Parts: sequence; C-alpha cells; structure tokens
Amino acid sequence: MPCNIVVGGFFGDEGKGKIVAYLVKKDNVRLAARGGVGPNAGHTFNLNGQTFKVRMLPSAAFNVTTNLAIGAGVLVDPMILLKEISTFHAHGRTFVDPHCGIIKEEHIRQDSNESFLKERIGTTGTGTGPANSDRALRKLTLAMDCSEIKNYLNDVSCMIHSDLDKKNNVLLEGTQGTYLSLYHGGYPFVTSKDVTASSVCADVGIGPKYIDDVIVVFKSYITRVGGGPLENELGKEETQKRGWQEYGSVTGRERRSSPFNIGLAKKSIRLNGGTSFALTKLDVLFPECAGVTDYSKLSSPSKKFVEEIEAELGLKAELIGTGAEVDAVIDQRH
Ligand code: IMP
Ligand code: MG
Repeated sequence: MPCNIVVGGFFGDEGKGKIVAYLVKKDNVRLAARGGVGPNAGHTFNLNGQTFKVRMLPSAAFNVTTNLAIGAGVLVDPMILLKEISTFHAHGRTFVDPHCGIIKEEHIRQDSNESFLKERIGTTGTGTGPANSDRALRKLTLAMDCSEIKNYLNDVSCMIHSDLDKKNNVLLEGTQGTYLSLYHGGYPFVTSKDVTASSVCADVGIGPKYIDDVIVVFKSYITRVGGGPLENELGKEETQKRGWQEYGSVTGRERRSSPFNIGLAKKSIRLNGGTSFALTKLDVLFPECAGVTDYSKLSSPSKKFVEEIEAELGLKAELIGTGAEVDAVIDQRH
C-alpha cells in the first residue's frame, strides 16, 4: 500500500503544505506523519478561502479522518503543539513519538540572542538548532519526560507499520528544503539536520524499502529566507515587479528570490531519490493558468515551461499547483 514522502526541493517554502493537504484529501490518507526539524517550519494551506498554518502538526490537520503523527526525529515545542491541537480539534488523533526532543525557553533564547545564529545564519529563532545541539550532547529532554504532552505519546514507527499492514495510505511530510540540509546544503547557511527524504524515513522510523513514491516539491521560482548564497538572486524591486515577493510564515521576514534553477532541481531529485515532482505556483508565473485543473487547458508558454523542466529532470510533473486553494491542482498521476 502506498507510503509516500513529500519533501522540499529548494530552500523551503516550496508549497509542501498545499501539496500534502491536496494528497490527504484526494487519497484518503489514514496517517500523516511529520518528519523534519521542528517548529522552525511553517506549512500553509488554503481551504475555502481561509488560510491555515501549521508548525508542528502535519498539514493533514484539517482532515478529521486522518491521524496525525510526529516522528521521533522531530523537535517539539509543547506550547505550539497544544495550540495547534486545539485549533484543529485534533485531540484524540494526534500522536507524538516518546523520543521526540523538547524545545525549552533556553533554546529559544539562545537561538534569538546569539549573534552567529541570529545575524550571520539568520535562523528562525525558534530554538531548533540549540535543541538539536543538546540532543547530540545527550542532554535534551525527550517527549517521554515532558508532562505537558503526556496524553499524546505513542510509538510513531509502530503506528506507521501497523497502518501499512492494514493497507492504509500513509503520507510522510518533510520540512524545510533540500538545500537547507546540514549535510547537502550550503553550510553553514543551513538548518540543524539533514532534511532529505532519507532523513524523513529515519525521523518517523521506517526503512527506505517501505516507500513507494518520493515527491519532490519545487516552486515555479525560488525563494530563500535568512543568510547564504542564492544564484541569480533578483533585487527587491525586480522581485516585486514579477510578483514573487513573499514573507516567511514563521518569522515574517521578506523572502529573497531567484528564477527556477534547473541545476539545483536535478541535484535535488538525486539527493532525495525523487520518483516524481510537484511544481507549485505556476499561476504566479503565468496568471492565465490560475485555477486550471486540466493540463490541456494550460497556456502554451506555461506548458513549455513545465515540459522543459520535465525533459531536464526525466520525470513527470505529476502535481501542478495553479492557485492558493488546496484543490487548485492539475493531477497527472496514473
Ligand atoms: P533554523 O532552522 O531556524 O536554524 O534556521 C537556519 C536557516 O534555515 C535559516 O536560513 C532559516 O531562514 C532557514 N529555515 C529554517 N526553516 C525554514 C523553513 O521552514 N522555510 C524556509 N527557511 C527555513
Ligand atoms: Mg514555510
């Protein structure tokens, strides 16, 4: 039964939240599990004109028939998690692995005050780097010892295997983007762990052989927040002129931008073992495509854009985002 992974192909903010939300609805996903770093990620999706953001729960949170899990490799900020459980009425279907690390005040303070992290790297200030550092030092508190979330503890690896045994659909959601990986990104301008598909497997506790599809999400242009190089970066004015200005969903910082980079996309497919890719925000590049859900109805220039990327990557754009709403997707899966 399908166990698929969704990961970011660039620097985060590719639109993973929207793609996960679409798949959860469409494929009747029984269990959505979040891998990745922790609350430094903000995943956004729009349903019926309303915008939702999640920093701890999987982007499946809105779907009441989906169980929500947070894998052992993920850092948990208990306050943020409890708030999201309440917002999405997710009590009774939220499960936190006992081995998740816990972010404390001191980690947030360190992440926000230390000039190297705050100014040079430009972290999100959410405490994830210092908490992962404590984890490597074996002095971080784990979820099993955190009384605030004791009602939600469950072995996420076991849950996934049990759902797969029952032939239920499972969806794994990565956070950040490939080039923010501690191993494969532009160190030191990266996040505090690897964030490629292999790590998402490790985060939630399942081996690579159980994975059917690895969907790498690319946006039709690139954005980046925080420090670090960005090839062919556009100035602020040009970014605005193209309608590519965006603001970080966790920090509110203005994102930097550049055009789609095929070299980065190719490498990203290899690093993640991508079996297909999703291309989001095609309507931002080609406004005439807004809301289109049928490939044949796309304009010629937008088709050319998609097909050139497909040819270079040797993969199909199985999902194409054409608007903010979760349903604004061209689904070309077979
Ligand atoms: P940290 O993950 O907060 O330590 O930040 C390290 C770098 O990763 C900074 O450049 C952040 O802006 C970036 N970053 C971390 N999480 C995200 C994300 O979810 N989206 C985009 N950038 C992120
Ligand atoms: Mg984001």
